[in-house]
Amino acid sequence: MDSLLIKGGVPLHGEVLISGAKNAVLPIMAATLLTAGKCVIRRVPQLSDVHFMAKILASLGARVTIESDTVTVRAAKLKPVGNYDLIRKMRGSICILGPLLGRQRYAKVSLPGGCVIGPRPIDLHLKGMRQLGAELTIEGGYVKAEAARLIGAEIFLGGRAGPTVLGTANVMMAAVLAEGVTTVESAACEPEVVDLAHFLNQMGARIVGAGSPTITINGVKELHGAEHEVIPDRIETATFAIAAAATNGEVTIKGARPDHLHAVLDKLREAGVEVHRQGLTMTVRRGGRLKPVDVTTLPYSGFPTDAQAQMMVLMALTPGLSIITERIFESRFMHVSELARLGADISIEGPNAIVKGGKGLSGAPVMASDLRASAALVIAGLAAQGTTQVNRIYHLDRGYEKIDAKLRRLGARVKRVEGS
Ligand code: EPU
Repeated sequence: MDSLLIKGGVPLHGEVLISGAKNAVLPIMAATLLTAGKCVIRRVPQLSDVHFMAKILASLGARVTIESDTVTVRAAKLKPVGNYDLIRKMRGSICILGPLLGRQRYAKVSLPGGCVIGPRPIDLHLKGMRQLGAELTIEGGYVKAEAARLIGAEIFLGGRAGPTVLGTANVMMAAVLAEGVTTVESAACEPEVVDLAHFLNQMGARIVGAGSPTITINGVKELHGAEHEVIPDRIETATFAIAAAATNGEVTIKGARPDHLHAVLDKLREAGVEVHRQGLTMTVRRGGRLKPVDVTTLPYSGFPTDAQAQMMVLMALTPGLSIITERIFESRFMHVSELARLGADISIEGPNAIVKGGKGLSGAPVMASDLRASAALVIAGLAAQGTTQVNRIYHLDRGYEKIDAKLRRLGARVKRVEGS
């Protein structure tokens, strides 16, 4: 398994170009199953999750090509069943449920289990499908959905931790080909949901309200092919912004959507980081002394759970006490014990991480446990004195396009070590 060797203590300087958003492209790729027409998706990041989704679509009978940052899919005919082993391995593959049910009134997808960041239930996805008229059975680890007809309904998708992002995407994708009007209440407002709605509308769907808690979908008989450019990855943007501040550098982030990051930028500014926005570009640098801030993760437009681990590193470097509260996933603090190896003083009490910052970090071998924890460990390694080896970086390759190359261009001393 590959690892990253980071010689820390070098401030990041220069420009970085943001890639397309992983969490937008996966449901958009799944949505191509809704039509026999040709779909062209641009600004697709080269990520292992994207290649995985391409394989899943191909196993369902679609013709998929990936050329540089463009994915072309033509799902002229679908096979009733795909390669379950593939589907089982990727949590994000749950978003093929809605499109398969919508187009062929039948879907069989493996149930995602829990993972290191906490349980990953899909009860809200299933509730939405049921309310559209699908019959669902759970058997041998799979969910089977069948419907003679899908009929528009009023669906409330609020859960224990608020709305569900992929649940909203799934219900939207099933409802576009349902008869009549579907209203999704307590819908997720994330920009990735809005991007999916744009793509679906380009395919001929009639969706209004995406980005607000109420989405209305007027069902249509069929969809056609479309072209789409994926939105920039707001979590990659946040990661580079935090890395610039953590290393006391100055980074100009290009091709981003700072308007998708109000909560993160607000917290960075509160912490004393200077952020200058100009259109799709922003420059981030540590102004003077950093100040501790409290952070609570929330559904959009609150502080994203996917940037919590990275922000915790910045607070570990900041003299004083800060409390980071995780409200979306139950156990998304796997990075805490690894950060302790670098000298961070963080204790966990329920959903709160209490960070006593400013003690200085020093390099050590650490183990990445999930995607965002890995990003946090990389930032910590960049800011630490000495050498940090981040093991199991396949997690990073799932969600950050060429992160090591991008960091090297900013002056970081980062080396990928193969097979260690
Ligand atoms: N939930 C339910 N029932 C459901 C679905 C979700 O109770 O049927 C709960 C979850 O347990 C969690 C909360 O609702 O407490 C939010 O989960 P959500 O469904 O919104 O998460 P998701 O759609 O499965 C996506 C991203 C995650 C990101 C979350 C939250 C993709 C592929 N994944 O997951 O991204 O953390 O939304 O913003 O889009 C990542 O990129 O590192 C990542 C984990």
